Amino acid sequence: MRTDYCGALNASFIDREVTLCGWVDRRRDHGGVIFLDLRDRDGIVQVVFDPDSANFALADKVRSEYVLKVKGRVRARSEATVNPKMATGEVEVYGLELEILNTAETPPFQLDSHVAVGEDVRLKYRYIDLRRQEMQHNLRFRSKVTTAIRNYLDGQGFLDIETPILTRATPEGARDYLVPSRTHDGKFFALPQSPQLFKQLLMVSGFDRYYQVAKCFRDEDLRADRQPEFTQIDIETSFMNEAQIMGIAEGMVKDLFKHLMDVDLGEFPHMTWQEAQDRYGSDKPDLRIPLELVEIKDLLKDIEFKVFAGPANDPKCRVTALKVPGGAEISRKQIDDYTKFVGIYGAKGLAWIKVNEIEKGVEGLQSPIIKFLGDDVTMKVMERLDAKNGDIVFFGADTIKVVSEALGALRCKLGADLNLYTRKWAPLWVVDFPMFEETDEGVAALHHPFTAPSCSPEELEANPATALSRAYDMVLNGTELGGGSVRIHNQSMQQTVFKILGISAEEQREKFGFLLDALKFGAPPHGGLAFGLDRLIMLMTDSSSIRDVIAFPKTQTAACVMTDAPGAVDNKQLRELHIRLREKETKEAK
Ligand code: AMO
Ligand code: AMP
Repeated sequence: MRTDYCGALNASFIDREVTLCGWVDRRRDHGGVIFLDLRDRDGIVQVVFDPDSANFALADKVRSEYVLKVKGRVRARSEATVNPKMATGEVEVYGLELEILNTAETPPFQLDSHVAVGEDVRLKYRYIDLRRQEMQHNLRFRSKVTTAIRNYLDGQGFLDIETPILTRATPEGARDYLVPSRTHDGKFFALPQSPQLFKQLLMVSGFDRYYQVAKCFRDEDLRADRQPEFTQIDIETSFMNEAQIMGIAEGMVKDLFKHLMDVDLGEFPHMTWQEAQDRYGSDKPDLRIPLELVEIKDLLKDIEFKVFAGPANDPKCRVTALKVPGGAEISRKQIDDYTKFVGIYGAKGLAWIKVNEIEKGVEGLQSPIIKFLGDDVTMKVMERLDAKNGDIVFFGADTIKVVSEALGALRCKLGADLNLYTRKWAPLWVVDFPMFEETDEGVAALHHPFTAPSCSPEELEANPATALSRAYDMVLNGTELGGGSVRIHNQSMQQTVFKILGISAEEQREKFGFLLDALKFGAPPHGGLAFGLDRLIMLMTDSSSIRDVIAFPKTQTAACVMTDAPGAVDNKQLRELHIRLREKETKEAK
């Protein structure tokens, strides 16, 4: 229907006749002349109909979001009317013919990106929301990224192989989405939390280098960077160690930033998981923020103040200070807000000291806790922190988990609130993760149960709590972009890990028999990783939520307000699936 895209027109088109198709972004009537801003996926151009035009009456009927086909002649705008803010602002199209391809009701919200619209409305009318420039840009950018990734990995000899969606549970730490089987009474498929086991089996089959742009499904609590259905760039290789695998992954991300954004990310530093916890209270430290946690446990062991002395003498606890240069300006009201904020992570308080005139000793400090710490200890703490006039120091004293999470999160919040960022991009690798973590339900794998430990099976069984794994995470600006590991390729090692996780021999057979068998039939050493594609695009487009880089995302409660999914099904369908719904609990109670 069209000869050109609206957004493609520029001065080189002057005097040419073009046919355009698109939506009416805006219609203005200026003293009898009608201006239509016509929009397509490439941009917007101004079309003019004057009263002499045969189509003037029709143009007068046009409203926002009508779909038009316009034939016209491109002409230069007069100097006074050139619009430097518009890509096509040097030209306009003098309308010769006009056809209304479809009308449109008044949209539920204005497409103008400056107008704030509630996200629920945007998601209900997502097909309209996606017309907005920002969303058009995000999804086009996403397409460029996946194309560049495919090219990069293809160039490195990776094969794109699909793995099943209807499968068995793949443990990645979330709940499964289940699909009932019609042909197997009472049985269920699980949607994959990741293609983990299939990609390992492809290595056993000898494909050597695999990748997939893979849909993954996890029924977990949602946040701005989590969706129940999301996309991974999933990678697996054989006969490579962690340095080689990280090298390929780092090369891919650097290549994307260089070619799509002209950003040079440089060499990614490596940091151990322990160091990340100690210095930043996080396994995904945001290194754009120059603040660090400082341990002061040893200075507080003998003081009277129980709040600090208790944790200082408990090996399961830490007592930590966070110095904020220039933070003495922070008001009491803000300190109260920060105290509430760290409460979310379980902190019972947030002690602080403001440094006004350090040369005057404790007299030059301001704080509710100096009287509890004593002058000597207070000054020793100030010395360790190298406190300067104008600083504020916050303190956390509690279990290692609570202090790390609370002060780690406070560090990021202060970084954002006070805009302390020292650079735009801060990538790193976090390495040497523990194999296991203690949870309320017992021992769990920190990455997943197929990750190889850095020690022998005997050492692992003897000291599971301190064993490290051969896992690695790529972190960018405080977001975990991707993670992976060298895998277990030996059956007895895999059985040892299952045993430590409390999975009985029968359960191992039932759930993972196929994997244990495959490991017997010549499994090569292998390893890989997976990137969260949505998170990568979110960071690259500077979006605040992954929902803004997914065409049709779910809401915070894992629903689709546009299609109204999940929805009810009729009884016939349920019967076929051998499912009878339990009556609502209220009825049961009666
Ligand atoms: P992991 O569970 O760390 O590893 O996931 C890899 C990456 O996927 C992204 N991600 C998510 N993105 C959006 N919404 C979610 N709910 C979500 N969950 C995870 C993150 C994360 O870094 N099979 C292993 C990888 C491997 O070992 O090769 C795995 O899935 O960016
Ligand atoms: P309190 O004696 O409970 O009034 O506490 C004195 C100060 O210590 C207050 O500023 C509290 O916010 C702070 N505080 C209390 N418990 C903790 C804790 N576990 N970690 C850090 N600061 C705390």
